[in-house]
Amino acid sequence: MANITRFFVFLSCFCFASRVGSASGNRNVLVIIGDDAGFEMQVYNNTVCKTPHLNSLASRSLTFTQAFTSVSSCSPSRSAILTGLPQHQNGMYGLHQGYHHFNSFDTVRSLPLLLNQSGIRTGIVGKKHVGPESVYPFEFAHTEENNHIMQVGRNITLIKLLVRKFLQQKDDRPFFLYIGFHDPHRCGHTNPQFGNFCEKFGNGEPGMGLIPDWTPVHYSPEEVVVPPFVQDTPAARSDLAAQYTTISRLDQGIGLILQELQAAGHDKDTLILYSSDNGIPFPNGRTNLYNSGMAEPLLLSSPLHTSRWGQTTDSFASLLDVVPTVLDWFGLEYPEYEIFGKNKLVKLTGKSLLPALKEEQSWNTVYASHDLHEVTMFYPMRIIRTGDYHLIQNLNFAMPFPIDQDFYLSPSFQDLLNRTRKGQPLHWFKTLKNYYYRPQWELYDLKSDPQETVNLADNSDYRDVLQELRSQLQAWQKVTYDPWICAPWGVLEDEGPYKDNPVCMSMDNGT
Ligand SMILES: *[C@@H]1O[C@H](CO)[C@@H](O)[C@H](O)[C@H]1NC(C)=O
Ligand SMILES: *[C@@H]1O[C@H](CO)[C@@H](O)[C@H](O)[C@H]1NC(C)=O
Ligand SMILES: *[C@@H]1O[C@H](CO)[C@@H](O)[C@H](O)[C@H]1NC(C)=O
Ligand SMILES: *[C@@H]1O[C@H](CO)[C@@H](O)[C@H](O)[C@H]1NC(C)=O
Repeated sequence: MANITRFFVFLSCFCFASRVGSASGNRNVLVIIGDDAGFEMQVYNNTVCKTPHLNSLASRSLTFTQAFTSVSSCSPSRSAILTGLPQHQNGMYGLHQGYHHFNSFDTVRSLPLLLNQSGIRTGIVGKKHVGPESVYPFEFAHTEENNHIMQVGRNITLIKLLVRKFLQQKDDRPFFLYIGFHDPHRCGHTNPQFGNFCEKFGNGEPGMGLIPDWTPVHYSPEEVVVPPFVQDTPAARSDLAAQYTTISRLDQGIGLILQELQAAGHDKDTLILYSSDNGIPFPNGRTNLYNSGMAEPLLLSSPLHTSRWGQTTDSFASLLDVVPTVLDWFGLEYPEYEIFGKNKLVKLTGKSLLPALKEEQSWNTVYASHDLHEVTMFYPMRIIRTGDYHLIQNLNFAMPFPIDQDFYLSPSFQDLLNRTRKGQPLHWFKTLKNYYYRPQWELYDLKSDPQETVNLADNSDYRDVLQELRSQLQAWQKVTYDPWICAPWGVLEDEGPYKDNPVCMSMDNGT
Protein backbone atom coordinates (compact mmCIF):
# COMPACT_ATOMS: atom_id res chain seq x y z
CA MET A 1 0.00 0.00 0.00
CA ALA A 2 2.73 2.41 0.98
CA ASN A 3 4.53 1.61 -2.25
CA ILE A 4 1.43 2.30 -4.30
CA THR A 5 0.92 5.65 -2.60
CA ARG A 6 4.48 6.60 -3.25
CA PHE A 7 4.13 5.62 -6.89
CA PHE A 8 1.17 7.97 -7.33
CA VAL A 9 2.96 10.78 -5.55
CA PHE A 10 5.85 10.29 -7.90
CA LEU A 11 3.49 10.40 -10.88
CA SER A 12 1.78 13.58 -9.74
CA CYS A 13 5.11 15.33 -9.16
CA PHE A 14 6.17 14.29 -12.61
CA CYS A 15 3.02 15.85 -14.15
CA PHE A 16 3.64 19.05 -12.25
CA ALA A 17 7.18 19.06 -13.50
CA SER A 18 6.28 18.86 -17.15
CA ARG A 19 3.69 21.62 -16.72
CA VAL A 20 6.13 24.20 -15.41
CA GLY A 21 8.55 23.40 -18.19
CA SER A 22 6.03 24.26 -20.87
CA ALA A 23 4.41 27.17 -19.12
CA SER A 24 4.04 30.41 -20.99
CA GLY A 25 3.93 33.61 -18.96
CA ASN A 26 6.98 32.56 -16.98
CA ARG A 27 7.60 33.25 -13.32
CA ASN A 28 11.21 33.60 -12.26
CA VAL A 29 13.18 33.78 -9.04
CA LEU A 30 16.20 35.86 -8.03
CA VAL A 31 17.82 35.03 -4.68
CA ILE A 32 20.54 37.38 -3.37
CA ILE A 33 22.59 36.31 -0.35
CA GLY A 34 25.00 38.67 1.43
CA ASP A 35 28.01 37.04 3.12
CA ASP A 36 27.94 37.66 6.90
CA ALA A 37 25.62 40.62 6.20
CA GLY A 38 23.50 41.92 9.04
CA PHE A 39 21.25 44.83 9.87
CA GLU A 40 23.71 47.55 8.85
CA MET A 41 21.20 49.07 6.46
CA GLN A 42 18.67 51.88 6.55
CA VAL A 43 15.79 49.46 5.98
CA TYR A 44 16.46 48.10 9.49
CA ASN A 45 16.77 51.56 10.99
CA ASN A 46 20.54 51.91 10.91
CA THR A 47 20.66 55.63 10.14
CA VAL A 48 24.42 55.78 9.43
CA CYS A 49 25.18 52.99 6.93
CA LYS A 50 23.75 54.24 3.63
CA THR A 51 22.09 51.60 1.46
CA PRO A 52 19.98 53.37 -1.20
CA HIS A 53 19.60 50.29 -3.41
CA LEU A 54 18.41 48.06 -0.57
CA ASN A 55 16.02 50.91 0.35
CA SER A 56 14.69 50.86 -3.14
CA LEU A 57 14.26 47.06 -3.10
CA ALA A 58 12.52 47.34 0.29
CA SER A 59 10.03 49.82 -1.15
CA ARG A 60 8.86 46.97 -3.40
CA SER A 61 9.20 44.25 -0.74
CA LEU A 62 7.75 42.97 2.47
CA THR A 63 10.51 43.37 5.09
CA PHE A 64 10.67 40.68 7.79
CA THR A 65 11.66 41.90 11.25
CA GLN A 66 11.71 38.33 12.62
CA ALA A 67 13.76 36.30 10.15
CA PHE A 68 16.36 33.78 11.30
CA THR A 69 18.98 31.48 9.91
CA SER A 70 18.78 27.84 10.95
CA VAL A 71 22.56 27.78 11.52
CA SER A 72 25.09 30.60 11.87
CA SER A 73 27.82 29.28 9.61
CA CYS A 74 28.40 29.77 5.91
CA SER A 75 28.23 26.36 4.18
CA PRO A 76 25.74 24.81 6.61
CA SER A 77 23.47 27.84 6.18
CA ARG A 78 23.75 27.85 2.39
CA SER A 79 23.01 24.12 2.30
CA ALA A 80 19.92 24.74 4.44
CA ILE A 81 18.83 27.64 2.18
CA LEU A 82 19.14 25.41 -0.89
CA THR A 83 17.69 22.18 0.56
CA GLY A 84 15.14 23.35 3.12
CA LEU A 85 16.75 20.84 5.50
CA PRO A 86 18.78 21.71 8.63
CA GLN A 87 22.49 20.92 8.49
CA HIS A 88 22.13 17.81 10.68
CA GLN A 89 19.69 16.39 8.12
CA ASN A 90 21.36 17.37 4.84
CA GLY A 91 24.88 16.41 6.02
CA MET A 92 26.68 19.76 5.58
CA TYR A 93 27.85 19.81 9.21
CA GLY A 94 30.52 22.47 8.64
CA LEU A 95 32.47 24.43 6.05
CA HIS A 96 32.84 22.97 2.57
CA GLN A 97 36.20 24.38 1.45
CA GLY A 98 39.73 23.16 2.13
CA TYR A 99 40.44 20.58 4.78
CA HIS A 100 37.05 21.07 6.38
CA HIS A 101 35.55 19.23 3.40
CA PHE A 102 31.95 18.96 4.51
CA ASN A 103 29.39 17.86 1.92
CA SER A 104 25.69 17.11 1.84
CA PHE A 105 24.52 13.51 1.57
CA ASP A 106 24.47 12.19 -2.01
CA THR A 107 20.71 11.57 -1.94
CA VAL A 108 19.70 15.10 -0.89
CA ARG A 109 17.46 16.86 -3.42
CA SER A 110 18.37 20.51 -3.53
CA LEU A 111 16.50 23.37 -5.12
CA PRO A 112 18.71 23.60 -8.25
CA LEU A 113 18.34 19.85 -8.77
CA LEU A 114 14.54 19.85 -8.35
CA LEU A 115 14.08 22.97 -10.47
CA ASN A 116 16.24 21.62 -13.28
CA GLN A 117 14.13 18.45 -13.31
CA SER A 118 11.04 20.65 -13.61
CA GLY A 119 12.32 22.49 -16.67
CA ILE A 120 13.59 25.60 -14.92
CA ARG A 121 16.90 27.18 -15.91
CA THR A 122 19.27 27.58 -12.96
CA GLY A 123 22.17 29.98 -12.52
CA ILE A 124 24.63 30.89 -9.80
CA VAL A 125 27.04 33.83 -9.69
CA GLY A 126 29.42 34.24 -6.74
CA LYS A 127 29.88 32.21 -3.61
CA LYS A 128 28.57 28.64 -3.79
CA HIS A 129 30.39 26.96 -0.89
CA VAL A 130 28.29 23.80 -0.92
CA GLY A 131 28.76 20.37 -2.45
CA PRO A 132 28.93 17.82 -3.85
CA GLU A 133 28.30 19.06 -7.38
CA SER A 134 25.82 16.24 -8.06
CA VAL A 135 23.61 17.53 -5.22
CA TYR A 136 23.89 21.22 -6.14
CA PRO A 137 24.06 21.32 -9.96
CA PHE A 138 23.60 24.76 -11.53
CA GLU A 139 23.43 25.04 -15.29
CA PHE A 140 25.08 28.47 -15.48
CA ALA A 141 27.80 28.66 -12.83
CA HIS A 142 30.43 31.33 -12.18
CA THR A 143 31.60 30.60 -8.65
CA GLU A 144 34.77 30.13 -6.58
CA GLU A 145 35.01 26.70 -8.25
CA ASN A 146 35.88 28.19 -11.65
CA ASN A 147 36.82 31.82 -10.83
CA HIS A 148 38.53 33.82 -8.11
CA ILE A 149 36.07 34.47 -5.30
CA MET A 150 37.24 38.11 -5.12
CA GLN A 151 36.09 38.55 -8.71
CA VAL A 152 32.77 36.68 -8.77
CA GLY A 153 31.94 37.60 -5.18
CA ARG A 154 33.11 41.21 -4.78
CA ASN A 155 33.75 42.75 -8.21
CA ILE A 156 30.32 44.19 -8.87
CA THR A 157 31.20 45.18 -12.44
CA LEU A 158 31.98 41.56 -13.26
CA ILE A 159 28.90 40.36 -11.35
CA LYS A 160 26.78 42.76 -13.40
CA LEU A 161 28.23 41.43 -16.67
CA LEU A 162 27.66 37.80 -15.63
CA VAL A 163 24.06 38.51 -14.63
CA ARG A 164 23.57 40.22 -18.00
CA LYS A 165 24.98 37.18 -19.78
CA PHE A 166 22.61 34.86 -17.91
CA LEU A 167 19.55 37.03 -18.49
CA GLN A 168 20.25 37.53 -22.17
CA GLN A 169 20.67 33.85 -23.03
CA LYS A 170 18.04 32.81 -25.56
CA ASP A 171 15.99 30.36 -23.51
CA ASP A 172 12.22 30.18 -23.00
CA ARG A 173 12.35 28.33 -19.70
CA PRO A 174 11.62 30.15 -16.43
CA PHE A 175 14.76 30.83 -14.39
CA PHE A 176 16.13 30.60 -10.89
CA LEU A 177 19.16 32.85 -10.42
CA TYR A 178 21.15 32.77 -7.17
CA ILE A 179 23.69 35.52 -6.44
CA GLY A 180 26.17 34.83 -3.63
CA PHE A 181 27.95 38.08 -2.80
CA HIS A 182 31.21 37.60 -0.89
CA ASP A 183 30.71 41.11 0.55
CA PRO A 184 30.69 42.11 3.37
CA HIS A 185 32.74 39.11 4.58
CA ARG A 186 36.00 39.70 6.42
CA CYS A 187 39.20 39.72 4.40
CA GLY A 188 41.97 40.34 6.92
CA HIS A 189 42.92 36.66 7.34
CA THR A 190 43.34 36.01 3.58
CA ASN A 191 44.03 39.35 1.84
CA PRO A 192 45.04 41.83 4.54
CA GLN A 193 46.41 44.24 1.93
CA PHE A 194 42.83 45.10 0.97
CA GLY A 195 41.78 45.93 4.55
CA ASN A 196 39.90 43.98 7.21
CA PHE A 197 36.73 43.73 5.08
CA CYS A 198 38.35 44.08 1.64
CA GLU A 199 37.03 47.61 1.80
CA LYS A 200 39.92 48.83 -0.39
CA PHE A 201 39.64 46.16 -3.11
CA GLY A 202 38.85 47.89 -6.39
CA ASN A 203 38.78 51.43 -4.99
CA GLY A 204 41.25 52.71 -7.62
CA GLU A 205 44.10 53.48 -5.22
CA PRO A 206 47.58 52.20 -6.17
CA GLY A 207 47.66 48.39 -6.02
CA MET A 208 43.94 48.06 -5.27
CA GLY A 209 42.64 47.71 -8.82
CA LEU A 210 39.46 49.34 -10.02
CA ILE A 211 35.83 48.28 -9.91
CA PRO A 212 34.38 50.84 -12.33
CA ASP A 213 30.80 50.55 -11.02
CA TRP A 214 31.67 51.09 -7.37
CA THR A 215 31.76 54.46 -5.60
CA PRO A 216 33.14 53.64 -2.14
CA VAL A 217 31.35 55.32 0.77
CA HIS A 218 33.57 56.03 3.77
CA TYR A 219 32.64 56.30 7.44
CA SER A 220 34.47 57.45 10.52
CA PRO A 221 34.81 55.14 13.54
CA GLU A 222 33.08 57.80 15.66
CA GLU A 223 29.86 57.75 13.66
CA VAL A 224 29.17 53.98 13.33
CA VAL A 225 26.38 52.37 15.35
CA VAL A 226 27.93 49.79 17.68
CA PRO A 227 25.51 46.86 18.08
CA PRO A 228 24.71 46.16 21.75
CA PHE A 229 26.50 42.78 21.58
CA VAL A 230 29.82 44.29 20.37
CA GLN A 231 32.26 46.06 22.71
CA ASP A 232 32.28 49.85 22.29
CA THR A 233 36.02 50.45 21.79
CA PRO A 234 38.10 52.24 19.13
CA ALA A 235 39.22 48.88 17.65
CA ALA A 236 35.67 47.58 17.21
CA ARG A 237 34.51 50.93 15.84
CA SER A 238 37.13 51.10 13.10
CA ASP A 239 36.34 47.45 12.27
CA LEU A 240 32.67 48.44 11.84
CA ALA A 241 33.58 51.48 9.71
CA ALA A 242 35.45 49.18 7.31
CA GLN A 243 32.47 46.81 7.23
CA TYR A 244 30.16 49.72 6.30
CA THR A 245 32.37 50.68 3.34
CA THR A 246 32.20 47.11 2.05
CA ILE A 247 28.43 47.20 2.48
CA SER A 248 28.39 50.13 0.03
CA ARG A 249 29.80 47.74 -2.59
CA LEU A 250 27.19 45.10 -1.78
CA ASP A 251 24.43 47.70 -1.94
CA GLN A 252 25.59 49.16 -5.27
CA GLY A 253 26.01 45.61 -6.61
CA ILE A 254 22.39 44.88 -5.76
CA GLY A 255 21.42 48.07 -7.61
CA LEU A 256 23.25 46.85 -10.72
CA ILE A 257 21.59 43.42 -10.61
CA LEU A 258 18.13 44.95 -10.27
CA GLN A 259 18.90 47.23 -13.20
CA GLU A 260 19.91 44.21 -15.31
CA LEU A 261 16.69 42.45 -14.34
CA GLN A 262 14.66 45.43 -15.47
CA ALA A 263 16.66 45.87 -18.70
CA ALA A 264 15.94 42.22 -19.52
CA GLY A 265 12.23 42.82 -18.98
CA HIS A 266 11.97 40.55 -15.95
CA ASP A 267 11.15 43.01 -13.19
CA LYS A 268 7.41 42.22 -13.55
CA ASP A 269 7.66 38.43 -13.35
CA THR A 270 10.49 37.74 -10.87
CA LEU A 271 10.26 36.99 -7.17
CA ILE A 272 13.26 38.56 -5.41
CA LEU A 273 14.57 37.47 -2.04
CA TYR A 274 17.42 39.18 -0.20
CA SER A 275 18.96 37.75 2.96
CA SER A 276 22.25 36.66 4.48
CA ASP A 277 23.78 33.36 5.53
CA ASN A 278 24.60 34.03 9.19
CA GLY A 279 25.31 36.62 11.86
CA ILE A 280 27.90 39.39 11.48
CA PRO A 281 31.56 38.40 12.17
CA PHE A 282 31.74 40.10 15.56
CA PRO A 283 31.65 38.73 19.12
CA ASN A 284 28.35 36.95 19.91
CA GLY A 285 27.53 37.04 16.16
CA ARG A 286 28.51 34.47 13.52
CA THR A 287 28.84 30.86 14.81
CA ASN A 288 26.57 31.77 17.74
CA LEU A 289 22.88 31.07 17.90
CA TYR A 290 22.05 33.92 20.20
CA ASN A 291 19.73 36.43 18.57
CA SER A 292 22.82 38.36 17.43
CA GLY A 293 24.06 35.35 15.44
CA MET A 294 20.71 34.05 14.25
CA ALA A 295 18.57 37.06 13.24
CA GLU A 296 18.82 37.95 9.54
CA PRO A 297 17.61 40.67 7.23
CA LEU A 298 14.96 39.35 4.85
CA LEU A 299 13.28 41.23 2.01
CA LEU A 300 10.75 39.44 -0.17
CA SER A 301 9.61 41.25 -3.30
CA SER A 302 6.89 39.94 -5.57
CA PRO A 303 5.66 41.94 -8.57
CA LEU A 304 2.39 40.01 -8.29
CA HIS A 305 1.73 40.93 -4.65
CA THR A 306 1.95 44.71 -4.37
CA SER A 307 -0.48 45.33 -1.50
CA ARG A 308 2.18 45.04 1.21
CA TRP A 309 5.05 46.70 -0.65
CA GLY A 310 7.06 48.91 1.68
CA GLN A 311 5.58 47.30 4.80
CA THR A 312 7.27 45.34 7.57
CA THR A 313 6.00 42.10 9.06
CA ASP A 314 6.59 40.51 12.46
CA SER A 315 5.60 37.06 11.16
CA PHE A 316 8.47 34.67 11.80
CA ALA A 317 10.53 33.44 8.87
CA SER A 318 13.37 30.93 8.71
CA LEU A 319 15.87 30.46 5.92
CA LEU A 320 14.46 26.91 5.89
CA ASP A 321 11.43 28.60 4.29
CA VAL A 322 13.29 29.52 1.09
CA VAL A 323 12.78 26.11 -0.57
CA PRO A 324 9.03 25.91 0.17
CA THR A 325 8.61 29.54 -0.93
CA VAL A 326 10.36 29.03 -4.28
CA LEU A 327 8.52 25.75 -4.93
CA ASP A 328 5.21 27.47 -4.12
CA TRP A 329 6.04 30.35 -6.49
CA PHE A 330 6.68 27.85 -9.31
CA GLY A 331 3.65 25.72 -8.36
CA LEU A 332 5.81 22.68 -7.63
CA GLU A 333 5.45 20.07 -4.92
CA TYR A 334 8.27 18.73 -2.80
CA PRO A 335 9.05 15.12 -3.76
CA GLU A 336 8.75 12.25 -1.28
CA TYR A 337 12.00 10.44 -0.69
CA GLU A 338 14.36 9.13 1.98
CA ILE A 339 17.87 10.14 3.07
CA PHE A 340 18.44 7.97 6.14
CA GLY A 341 16.91 4.78 4.79
CA LYS A 342 13.55 3.10 4.44
CA ASN A 343 10.51 4.68 6.05
CA LYS A 344 12.40 7.81 7.08
CA LEU A 345 10.65 10.14 4.67
CA VAL A 346 12.13 13.60 4.28
CA LYS A 347 9.65 16.26 5.35
CA LEU A 348 10.30 19.96 5.00
CA THR A 349 9.74 21.77 8.30
CA GLY A 350 9.69 25.23 6.68
CA LYS A 351 6.71 26.89 5.01
CA SER A 352 6.03 29.06 2.00
CA LEU A 353 6.33 32.76 2.84
CA LEU A 354 4.02 33.83 -0.01
CA PRO A 355 0.87 34.04 2.20
CA ALA A 356 2.60 36.80 4.23
CA LEU A 357 2.71 38.90 1.05
CA LYS A 358 -1.09 39.05 1.21
CA GLU A 359 -1.76 39.37 4.93
CA GLU A 360 -0.08 39.16 8.31
CA GLN A 361 0.48 35.56 9.48
CA SER A 362 0.64 34.18 13.01
CA TRP A 363 3.97 32.37 12.47
CA ASN A 364 5.94 32.66 15.70
CA THR A 365 8.40 29.78 16.03
CA VAL A 366 11.69 28.87 14.38
CA TYR A 367 14.35 26.24 15.08
CA ALA A 368 18.10 26.14 14.60
CA SER A 369 20.83 23.54 14.74
CA HIS A 370 24.62 23.97 14.66
CA ASP A 371 27.34 21.31 14.81
CA LEU A 372 30.59 22.75 13.42
CA HIS A 373 32.01 25.70 11.52
CA GLU A 374 35.63 24.75 10.86
CA VAL A 375 36.36 21.03 11.28
CA THR A 376 38.07 21.75 14.62
CA MET A 377 35.11 23.75 15.93
CA PHE A 378 32.70 21.11 17.20
CA TYR A 379 30.14 22.93 19.32
CA PRO A 380 26.70 21.39 18.74
CA MET A 381 23.67 23.49 19.72
CA ARG A 382 19.94 23.03 19.29
CA ILE A 383 17.59 26.00 19.48
CA ILE A 384 13.95 26.97 19.56
CA ARG A 385 13.05 30.66 19.23
CA THR A 386 9.50 31.90 19.80
CA GLY A 387 8.10 35.42 20.04
CA ASP A 388 8.70 35.45 23.79
CA TYR A 389 11.53 33.02 24.46
CA HIS A 390 14.85 31.77 23.16
CA LEU A 391 15.99 28.34 24.34
CA ILE A 392 19.49 27.10 23.55
CA GLN A 393 20.79 23.64 24.36
CA ASN A 394 24.61 23.50 24.29
CA LEU A 395 25.24 19.79 23.82
CA ASN A 396 28.97 19.90 24.55
CA PHE A 397 28.70 22.58 27.19
CA ALA A 398 31.72 21.35 29.13
CA MET A 399 34.00 22.34 26.26
CA PRO A 400 35.06 25.95 25.61
CA PHE A 401 33.21 27.68 22.76
CA PRO A 402 35.61 27.67 19.77
CA ILE A 403 36.86 30.68 17.76
CA ASP A 404 37.42 30.52 13.99
CA GLN A 405 40.60 31.57 12.12
CA ASP A 406 39.01 34.54 10.41
CA PHE A 407 37.40 36.05 13.51
CA TYR A 408 40.41 35.28 15.73
CA LEU A 409 42.67 37.62 13.71
CA SER A 410 40.10 40.40 13.52
CA PRO A 411 40.77 43.68 15.37
CA SER A 412 37.54 43.22 17.33
CA PHE A 413 38.57 39.87 18.76
CA GLN A 414 42.23 40.80 19.23
CA ASP A 415 40.99 43.81 21.17
CA LEU A 416 38.98 41.57 23.52
CA LEU A 417 41.99 39.27 23.96
CA ASN A 418 44.43 42.12 24.59
CA ARG A 419 42.14 43.80 27.09
CA THR A 420 41.48 40.55 28.91
CA ARG A 421 45.19 39.73 29.12
CA LYS A 422 46.02 43.20 30.39
CA GLY A 423 43.10 43.30 32.82
CA GLN A 424 41.67 46.39 31.09
CA PRO A 425 37.94 47.14 30.89
CA LEU A 426 36.34 45.32 27.94
CA HIS A 427 33.37 47.67 27.41
CA TRP A 428 31.51 44.51 26.50
CA PHE A 429 28.46 42.84 28.07
CA LYS A 430 30.36 39.58 28.63
CA THR A 431 33.76 38.38 29.71
CA LEU A 432 35.75 36.04 27.50
CA LYS A 433 35.40 33.43 30.22
CA ASN A 434 31.61 33.42 30.22
CA TYR A 435 31.62 33.65 26.43
CA TYR A 436 33.72 30.47 26.26
CA TYR A 437 32.02 28.48 29.03
CA ARG A 438 28.28 28.12 28.64
CA PRO A 439 25.72 26.12 30.58
CA GLN A 440 23.86 23.22 28.98
CA TRP A 441 20.60 25.16 28.85
CA GLU A 442 20.14 28.86 28.21
CA LEU A 443 16.66 30.35 28.37
CA TYR A 444 16.00 34.03 27.70
CA ASP A 445 12.81 36.01 28.16
CA LEU A 446 12.94 38.31 25.14
CA LYS A 447 10.21 40.68 26.30
CA SER A 448 12.15 41.79 29.36
CA ASP A 449 15.65 40.88 28.17
CA PRO A 450 16.11 41.38 24.41
CA GLN A 451 19.92 41.34 24.74
CA GLU A 452 19.78 37.86 26.30
CA THR A 453 21.80 38.57 29.42
CA VAL A 454 19.83 36.74 32.16
CA ASN A 455 19.70 32.96 31.84
CA LEU A 456 16.41 31.72 33.31
CA ALA A 457 16.92 28.00 32.67
CA ASP A 458 17.36 27.29 36.39
CA ASN A 459 14.66 29.71 37.52
CA SER A 460 11.76 27.68 38.92
CA ASP A 461 9.23 30.29 37.74
CA TYR A 462 10.08 29.24 34.19
CA ARG A 463 9.97 25.46 34.72
CA ASP A 464 6.80 24.99 32.67
CA VAL A 465 8.03 27.26 29.88
CA LEU A 466 11.30 25.32 29.75
CA GLN A 467 9.49 21.97 29.65
CA GLU A 468 7.16 23.07 26.87
CA LEU A 469 9.99 24.50 24.75
CA ARG A 470 12.15 21.42 25.29
CA SER A 471 9.40 19.13 24.10
CA GLN A 472 8.76 21.25 20.99
CA LEU A 473 12.49 21.28 20.25
CA GLN A 474 12.71 17.53 20.68
CA ALA A 475 9.74 17.02 18.35
CA TRP A 476 11.57 19.05 15.66
CA GLN A 477 14.76 17.03 16.20
CA LYS A 478 12.70 13.88 15.76
CA VAL A 479 10.97 14.91 12.54
CA THR A 480 14.32 16.03 11.06
CA TYR A 481 16.05 12.75 12.13
CA ASP A 482 18.64 14.53 14.26
CA PRO A 483 21.45 12.03 15.04
CA TRP A 484 22.25 14.15 18.15
CA ILE A 485 18.78 13.71 19.60
CA CYS A 486 20.09 11.82 22.67
CA ALA A 487 23.12 14.00 23.35
CA PRO A 488 24.70 14.67 25.78
CA TRP A 489 23.36 12.08 28.23
CA GLY A 490 22.50 9.15 26.03
CA VAL A 491 23.24 6.98 23.05
CA LEU A 492 20.69 6.72 20.27
CA GLU A 493 19.92 3.10 19.40
CA ASP A 494 17.88 2.85 16.20
CA GLU A 495 19.12 -0.34 14.52
CA GLY A 496 18.37 -4.03 14.93
CA PRO A 497 15.81 -4.56 17.68
CA TYR A 498 15.42 -0.77 18.04
CA LYS A 499 14.76 -0.15 14.37
CA ASP A 500 11.05 0.51 14.74
CA ASN A 501 11.30 2.08 18.14
CA PRO A 502 14.46 4.17 18.50
CA VAL A 503 15.48 4.86 22.10
CA CYS A 504 17.92 7.06 23.97
CA MET A 505 19.95 4.81 26.29
CA SER A 506 21.55 6.43 29.30
CA MET A 507 25.33 6.65 29.63
CA ASP A 508 25.15 7.46 33.35
CA ASN A 509 27.46 10.40 32.63
CA GLY A 510 25.44 13.15 34.25
CA THR A 511 22.19 13.94 35.94
C1 LIG B 1 12.13 50.84 12.23
O1 LIG B 1 11.63 51.62 13.28
C2 LIG B 1 10.24 51.90 13.18
C3 LIG B 1 9.90 52.88 14.28
O2 LIG B 1 10.31 52.41 15.52
C4 LIG B 1 9.48 50.59 13.28
O3 LIG B 1 8.10 50.81 13.16
C5 LIG B 1 9.93 49.67 12.15
O4 LIG B 1 9.30 48.41 12.25
C6 LIG B 1 11.43 49.48 12.19
N1 LIG B 1 11.81 48.73 11.00
C7 LIG B 1 12.40 47.54 11.05
C8 LIG B 1 12.64 46.87 9.74
O5 LIG B 1 12.74 47.00 12.08
C1 LIG C 1 19.12 20.74 -16.70
O1 LIG C 1 18.13 20.41 -17.63
C2 LIG C 1 18.49 20.55 -18.99
C3 LIG C 1 17.28 20.33 -19.88
O2 LIG C 1 16.23 19.70 -19.23
C4 LIG C 1 19.64 19.70 -19.30
O3 LIG C 1 20.00 19.78 -20.68
C5 LIG C 1 20.81 20.12 -18.44
O4 LIG C 1 21.93 19.32 -18.66
C6 LIG C 1 20.45 20.13 -16.98
N1 LIG C 1 21.51 20.81 -16.28
C7 LIG C 1 21.95 20.48 -15.07
C8 LIG C 1 23.07 21.28 -14.51
O5 LIG C 1 21.49 19.59 -14.44
C1 LIG D 1 36.48 43.97 -12.13
O1 LIG D 1 35.97 43.40 -13.29
C2 LIG D 1 36.10 44.21 -14.44
C3 LIG D 1 35.38 43.48 -15.59
O2 LIG D 1 35.85 42.20 -15.72
C4 LIG D 1 37.58 44.45 -14.72
O3 LIG D 1 37.73 45.29 -15.82
C5 LIG D 1 38.21 45.08 -13.49
O4 LIG D 1 39.61 45.22 -13.67
C6 LIG D 1 37.97 44.24 -12.26
N1 LIG D 1 38.45 44.93 -11.07
C7 LIG D 1 39.27 44.36 -10.19
C8 LIG D 1 39.62 45.18 -8.99
O5 LIG D 1 39.69 43.22 -10.28
C1 LIG E 1 46.80 43.44 20.51
O1 LIG E 1 48.08 43.29 21.05
C2 LIG E 1 49.08 42.98 20.07
C3 LIG E 1 50.37 42.66 20.81
O2 LIG E 1 50.65 43.64 21.74
C4 LIG E 1 49.22 44.15 19.11
O3 LIG E 1 50.17 43.87 18.13
C5 LIG E 1 47.89 44.40 18.46
O4 LIG E 1 47.93 45.55 17.63
C6 LIG E 1 46.77 44.57 19.48
N1 LIG E 1 45.52 44.61 18.76
C7 LIG E 1 44.43 45.27 19.16
C8 LIG E 1 43.27 45.29 18.25
O5 LIG E 1 44.39 45.85 20.21
